[in-house]
Amino acid sequence: MPALDLSYVRAQFPAFTEPSLKDLAFFENAGGSYACGPVIERLTRFYRETKVQPYGPFPASKRAGEEMDEARARLAGYLNVATDEVNFGPSTSQNSYVLAQAFREMLMPGDEIVVTNQDHEANTGVWRRLAEGGITVREWQIDPESGRLDPRDLDGLLSEKTKLVAFPHCSNVVAHLNPVAEICAKAHAAGAVTCVDGVSYAPHGFPDMKALGADIYLFSLYKTYGPHQGLMVVKRALAERLPNQAHFFNAGALTKKLTPAGPDHAQIAASAGIADYFDALHAHHYKDAVDAAERGRRVHDLLRGQEKALLAPLLDYLRQRNDIRVLGPSDPEVRAPTVAILPKNKSADAVLQGLTQRGIGAGAGHFYGYRVVKALGCDPDAGVLRVSFVHYTAPEEIEKLMKALDASL
Ligand SMILES: Cc1ncc(COP(=O)(O)O)c(C=O)c1O
Repeated sequence: MPALDLSYVRAQFPAFTEPSLKDLAFFENAGGSYACGPVIERLTRFYRETKVQPYGPFPASKRAGEEMDEARARLAGYLNVATDEVNFGPSTSQNSYVLAQAFREMLMPGDEIVVTNQDHEANTGVWRRLAEGGITVREWQIDPESGRLDPRDLDGLLSEKTKLVAFPHCSNVVAHLNPVAEICAKAHAAGAVTCVDGVSYAPHGFPDMKALGADIYLFSLYKTYGPHQGLMVVKRALAERLPNQAHFFNAGALTKKLTPAGPDHAQIAASAGIADYFDALHAHHYKDAVDAAERGRRVHDLLRGQEKALLAPLLDYLRQRNDIRVLGPSDPEVRAPTVAILPKNKSADAVLQGLTQRGIGAGAGHFYGYRVVKALGCDPDAGVLRVSFVHYTAPEEIEKLMKALDASL
């Protein structure tokens, strides 16, 4: 596998040549990533040339619709799913909310669902509320020390009554990569469907949906170098079964029935720029022509490879400090580069202030992972410090971060 060409990568992101950002080492990528150039170009082009009601007969309208369709088709290719299994919505929180309304109509009192206390609130609160309609909600709990979800613990929660298992691909606090395929296989063996929150995973390389086996996979394009949209893959067999949440006459349209909000035409069209970026990355690193699913796997491995190489020294550095608790695993192989830290002698906010003064963009709080922060024994209101990076982060920025931590902790 070739190594990622970092200069090439950074040249694809206008943020790295933006004068007002030149002194910032950006470590809040789990909150939202920089947008790649092709996304920005497509978005501005859409607003300039095709900002009209799409799918009409006149040229600007026709092109607007074609650009939206192109985005859906090309992202579906990268995710290795059918085009009509890709749904766009305003955000992951909105998408999961609508899904929960659909399940509310479909489930019967006495049915059971499994949720976790590792999830961001977006993939747990909406499901827990189904209890109001007589659904039994079972909580799959993390180990309070490691923050891990043990798949063996799921066995005792599953039965023939279980209809849904909702869990994260990786938590935005613990960052441990859950074995999604194994968990989906267990859920399916019990007759349940799965809803996987991939928001914290997808920025590190789109997963191959066929390999994962999830029935629903949610993520947020504004964290994967794109515009502020949520993307939700719903397997066709499940989408057909779920009750319509949109206008009655859209009940038969798979890509409309679960996204009742009017689509943001420009942002949907602009998200094709993520595929442009991945295509360009692939062409820069590989000479042969392969299909989108294979390009997706290769780009995934390129991004992950780069991130793991930078994560190892950061974790080594953090492990050597006895004034912090690092949440989640210390092995870069099994975690995303989203590192939450509990300072022992100072508040997370005080350390964040120090980092901010030293040109580091990071975050502090519970990051809507209120339940997981609490389950780890931390005070969600005091919060934890979080530094998160992606493949475009440079080794010099990691060094700058470590120096800033030295001075701020
Ligand atoms: C793991 C995780 N899930 C879900 C969400 C919610 O995504 P959205 O902001 O698109 O609603 C976030 C947002 O930070 C997240 O980090």
